[in-house]
Amino acid sequence: MSIYSSLQAAPKDPILGMTETFNADPAPVKVNLGVGVYQDDTGKTPLMACVQTVEQDLAERHRSRGYLPMDGLAAFNSSAQALVFGENSAVCQAGRVVSQQSLAGTGALRVGANLLKMASPDAQLWLSTPSWENHELIFTRAGFELGAYRYYDRASGGVDVEGMLEDLAGAAPGTIVVLHACCHNPTGCDLTPADWDRVVQVVVDNQLVPFIDMAYQGLSHSVDEDRYPVTAFADSGIEFLVANSFSKTFGLYGERIGAIHFVAADGDRAKKILSQTKLIARSMYSNPPTQGAAIVAEVLTTPELKALWAQELNQMKDRMKQMRQVFRAGLEAAGVDQDLSFITSQAGMFSYSGMSVAQMQRLRSEFHVYGLDSGRLCIAAMNSRNMDFVVESVATVLKG
Ligand code: LMR
Repeated sequence: MSIYSSLQAAPKDPILGMTETFNADPAPVKVNLGVGVYQDDTGKTPLMACVQTVEQDLAERHRSRGYLPMDGLAAFNSSAQALVFGENSAVCQAGRVVSQQSLAGTGALRVGANLLKMASPDAQLWLSTPSWENHELIFTRAGFELGAYRYYDRASGGVDVEGMLEDLAGAAPGTIVVLHACCHNPTGCDLTPADWDRVVQVVVDNQLVPFIDMAYQGLSHSVDEDRYPVTAFADSGIEFLVANSFSKTFGLYGERIGAIHFVAADGDRAKKILSQTKLIARSMYSNPPTQGAAIVAEVLTTPELKALWAQELNQMKDRMKQMRQVFRAGLEAAGVDQDLSFITSQAGMFSYSGMSVAQMQRLRSEFHVYGLDSGRLCIAAMNSRNMDFVVESVATVLKG
């Protein structure tokens, strides 16, 4: 007898499980375009120069490693808040925002989800169609029943703004709506500021609860422009949440560093929220790790380092844009005759290729090029060394 005998094997994670399969593939030539991890032109995930500078300094200081508070490092929380909401944000100045260090974006989403479940146990939670694969797991495990709103329009290769607005207008008041601030994962298709204004209006009119997932601030346009939805919701006066991650924007994937921010109607409510989220942390992992928080806080509060970070972030964004152009031009030159303009108009780490599950499987089994079954390909893992091979493989599959 085993206490575990009722357990079945879980399916592989659609993203991280793909990396496991990739690692186990003995093929001498293979490319992992599955997981969203940035690599430079040599195929390495770089440690940013701003991070290296701080790490060296931290190592020399031999600082002790006592526990952080349950809500994390204060200097990190305030600098993350300023980055997400902007330096002179009125909601922050009014004391209406509380921020808690989290285990990156996933941890932020989960702490936010647990708090919302306590506060509003009967609310439904809606995701975009499609959304980041892990959203479904995070929110169902937090106990939510999921709903969906239209987002990606296969015909136009862009956002179905009217469909999205219509669906949100039909959601029950109190419904939690997960929104991607920029670099929508997996589609790479974003709303314009004018679209966001309309979304804010529907959300406000219909008393919905926005939960913004912002994992790519600065990788679409700029750090300031990419926070547009956050400031638009802040200006609307309603309560909402923002989960932010420094995995991609600082290249600190393994440090698990991010923050969950709650905007409340007033400072009293904000304090009550923080008292609860500290207990959520305490019950799951007690308090967060030190290194990532120390690095991000130091970079964001030191003007020269912050400027260096912004420059490095920009370089990443530009390299991905360049890869989009080279990928598209390569496929066109290889005779793929469908409209490929979506590759260069999408933003962020991914290209949502429109390829079917069968095509993605063929790409894996025949060419050892790994993308997700949804058709998502990681542009950030393309480089001048693997591009020809990727283009040839994708072109062969697309031409059938
Ligand atoms: C992705 O979408 O590939 C990344 O956000 C990594 C992850 O945790 O899924």
